[in-house]
Amino acid sequence: MPQTFARQHAFPADFVWGVATSSFQIEGAAADDGKGPSIWDDFCRRPGAIADGSHGDVACDHYHRLQADLDLLASLGVDAYRFSVSWPRVQPLGQGAWNPRGMDFYERLVDGLLARGIKPYLTLNHWDLPSALQARGGWADRDTVQRFVDYACGIDARLGDRLATITTHNEPWVMAFLGHETGVFAPGIRHRATAMQAAHHLLLSHGLAVQALRAQGCAASLGIVLNLSPVVPATSSEDDAAAARLEDGRLVRWYMDPLFHGRYPVDVWHHLGADAPQVQPGDMAAIATPIDHLGVNYYTRSVVSAAGPWDAQSGGRPLTDMGWEVVPEGLTALLLRLHRDWRLPALYVNENGAAYRDTCAAGRVHDAERTAYIASHIAAVGAAVEQGVPMAGYMVWSLLDNFEWASGYAKRFGIVHVDFDTLQRTPKDSALWYRAFLAAQRMQRSAAAPANLQPATSTP
Ligand code: FCB
Repeated sequence: MPQTFARQHAFPADFVWGVATSSFQIEGAAADDGKGPSIWDDFCRRPGAIADGSHGDVACDHYHRLQADLDLLASLGVDAYRFSVSWPRVQPLGQGAWNPRGMDFYERLVDGLLARGIKPYLTLNHWDLPSALQARGGWADRDTVQRFVDYACGIDARLGDRLATITTHNEPWVMAFLGHETGVFAPGIRHRATAMQAAHHLLLSHGLAVQALRAQGCAASLGIVLNLSPVVPATSSEDDAAAARLEDGRLVRWYMDPLFHGRYPVDVWHHLGADAPQVQPGDMAAIATPIDHLGVNYYTRSVVSAAGPWDAQSGGRPLTDMGWEVVPEGLTALLLRLHRDWRLPALYVNENGAAYRDTCAAGRVHDAERTAYIASHIAAVGAAVEQGVPMAGYMVWSLLDNFEWASGYAKRFGIVHVDFDTLQRTPKDSALWYRAFLAAQRMQRSAAAPANLQPATSTP
């Protein structure tokens, strides 16, 4: 990938390179050491919910392989590791008693990262809500907001002094829309008004948690992670343009406007009618509590047709194993638009990567398509940096092949292959490429730190 190596000078000297995972997708140990069940444990038991009928009971068994996985991380040479805490592992009922053995696991994880010179990037909620809270209404119930704030403060009290960043929620759109409107993700509810109320409570709990964490002296950088895409109409028709505008409202502006402007977008609010959420005085100001960073997860663009679902095959672009188009320039366009339309703090790409059908033979996985995907998206971030977007870091999704939610184990996003029979880890060619890229990046930093701040065109 010489062209990508040539572009590395576009990145600021303190740019953070990492990889990301989430608790439910890799930990396993579903009922070990006092862990309570989560809504994903329950959802996996629903017939037909998961494509391959699988569950997260063992997953990558990361819980029992922590030290080896930390060594694997260190071998990649990453600056940072983004992981999430399983709320029911540390507080089995989502309120009240803490589980010391669960807390100890994250203590070992954070200390193990620091011992290896890797910055811990902690996410509080990557979807595995304690089942006990779902029984009381879950995210649709306003009481869950305060439960989350208490949980955030408990994690900070124990780990906050050693964390680089704390992210409140990962992808509220996914939890609200896929979890409560289409019901294809946990908790599997299909009711639009419930989904919009859940989205509001997720945003509110984010803002109140940021306030509470600051009040108790948390020194970590605080933020939230959104799944965002450029939304484009399938054709130049008026109908497709209107449909794309609404989709942009529901996917992007419904989250960006409250977080950065303290209001919901009027067009979407009117479209929702009676399904718009109940909002109490003070909620919007709380949601707009200033944050230190915004995380963006980007995989592909969103093409919208008023006539119904758009067939990605018709786009003429390469598709990943998820059936998602490969559109690196969409990432540049998205980052530029976010920077233009909202006043942004530091911006991370917190997830970016691709599923492909890998085969592991003789200890090698030749995943050239994934390497090309990652390299082209890093270049797309570099293009945004050159155009003035305050980019702070980039993280590959994911360190390991893992439990890909409703797709089960069939979709492999890892740069490290996992054999789900033996749980053996094998770095794929993409991991070897990323390691070499990061090593070159480090050399460049130490050789010419001031030049790193200059745009590409001014560097010899
Ligand atoms: C994102 C999720 C992450 C992973 C990727 C492929 O929406 O945050 O857990 O499943 O998609």
